[in-house]
Amino acid sequence: MKLQALSLLILYSALVALPQVRPAKILAVYAFPGKSHFMMHTALIRELIQNGHQVTMIAAFSLASQQLGSNYTELLIEPVYDFWHDVKLNFGVQHLFDLTRMNNYDFLKMLEIIGLKTTEHALRQPHVQALIHARQTEGVFDLLLAEQFYQEAFLALAHKYKIPIVTTSTLGYENHMSQMMGLITPWSFVPHGFMPFTDRMSFMERVRNTYVSLYEDLDRLFNYFPKMDAITELYFGPVLAEVPKVRHMETQISVMLLNSHAPLTTARPTVDAMVPVGGMHIYPPKPLPMDMQSFLDAATDGAIYFSLGSNVQSKEMPAHMLQLFLKVFGSMKQRVLWKFEDDSIGQLPPNVMIRKWLPQADILAHPNIKVFITHGGLFGTQEGVHYAVPMLGIPFYCDQHLNMNKAVLGGYAISLHFQSITEQLLRHSLLQLIENASYAENVQRVSRIFRDRPLPPRRSAVYWIEYVIRHKGAPHMRSAGLDLRWYQFYLLDVISFVAAVGLAVLLLLLLALRLLRGSGKKHSKSKSH
Ligand SMILES: *[C@@H]1O[C@H](CO)[C@@H](O)[C@H](O)[C@H]1NC(C)=O
Ligand SMILES: *[C@@H]1O[C@H](CO)[C@@H](O)[C@H](O)[C@H]1NC(C)=O
Repeated sequence: MKLQALSLLILYSALVALPQVRPAKILAVYAFPGKSHFMMHTALIRELIQNGHQVTMIAAFSLASQQLGSNYTELLIEPVYDFWHDVKLNFGVQHLFDLTRMNNYDFLKMLEIIGLKTTEHALRQPHVQALIHARQTEGVFDLLLAEQFYQEAFLALAHKYKIPIVTTSTLGYENHMSQMMGLITPWSFVPHGFMPFTDRMSFMERVRNTYVSLYEDLDRLFNYFPKMDAITELYFGPVLAEVPKVRHMETQISVMLLNSHAPLTTARPTVDAMVPVGGMHIYPPKPLPMDMQSFLDAATDGAIYFSLGSNVQSKEMPAHMLQLFLKVFGSMKQRVLWKFEDDSIGQLPPNVMIRKWLPQADILAHPNIKVFITHGGLFGTQEGVHYAVPMLGIPFYCDQHLNMNKAVLGGYAISLHFQSITEQLLRHSLLQLIENASYAENVQRVSRIFRDRPLPPRRSAVYWIEYVIRHKGAPHMRSAGLDLRWYQFYLLDVISFVAAVGLAVLLLLLLALRLLRGSGKKHSKSKSH
């Protein structure tokens, strides 16, 4: 009898502790063909499938190699949209090494162009058209999962299927998100994602930060959104009674999953609906291929891992820079493992190994890796921090400067401007990172903080997705600030009111004083007579 009560109690507490979710049907839209972005998407979709959910995904790249089984349906976008072609065409960029010279305004314009082009390319696909024009919408899906990256037209699918939205941001927090989440991001200490600043800004840096943040907010509202609205209208007009505006749709997002986490992000105002899940793409290390394993095992003086990521290709590097890197590497006792996409590199120093593709995270996990030479992308930076490897940053564009500045400020990286790298500077920086213990100590401390979470990142992402499904959205987490007019939100009406009352009181006082003075004069005048 007692035993029965006990087991009932255990059963009861298990039920209370683990909220039950029936397997859900999730519509995912990952239509932007950014290779690095798919590190996060793939990890998330895998995790959802492993948790028993069914996912239908509009996919820029196939996840076929993941063997996700019958609960995964892929609507592949074909052919893959070559957005770098648009970039080269519109901005006179020859190769990506030139992006270091592009200013922020051109960069924002570039993102908008590639966003609009890739969105429309995906919307034209027959599979996507079938989804848009489907007759049956009731109960087909439980949730729309979308990327928070210049793909807003797809949010209309949530209106079509009457489902809540969760978005994922591969770039982590961005200042313009305050407009969708109804909060205020102080430009005084939150640097814009593309500015090479930190959270300690000088006066002039604050001026520039304010200007670029305001510029982006206004540009989105008055330039970008009308263009995205036109695309949304074109493709959803025939099927929706009223096509919602992008500005409205993005305030209906229930939860936003952000690829960032303390201490790699600026401490900043946020709302419960913004959930940091940075590091989702990092799994326990797998064994390395034999040749790499023995190359690194034998690196008794340590090894350097060099990769500029999936977009910037080392093979496009100007010839004199290539020679410079090879010369410096050849003069060091460390071994160098370099992601290099071309076999025609010529004679290599004996301590350098190149490969077209390298299992980056697994390599960074090798204890002999002493330095990671990186472009400072968010995924790579997180891997470097996770495995506590000091970094030599060569940032090119986007958030890479910011990530590297954060790392420099944290004392675990040295950042170099690609165009000003010299032999001496490169050798000196590498030796500092290897021999000066402060870099390793700092990155170990940052790594411990980065890994210290209430829930591991993939688990956390699935928790919040299931949370939104369970509660059919999360209006209780939505900021009421989103429903105010802009002048109400910034309290301009209250400030004007107080100023007006103050001014009125002042005027009245002045008037009263004048009247008093007047009557006093009259009084004295009458007296003298
Ligand atoms: C697919 O999802 C269903 C629930 O929707 C689940 O019962 C089944 O085990 C899943 N199949 C696989 C292969 O994971
Ligand atoms: C080690 O690096 C730190 C941080 O850059 C620097 O302050 C210190 O002087 C360096 N020590 C040596 C011996 O170079």
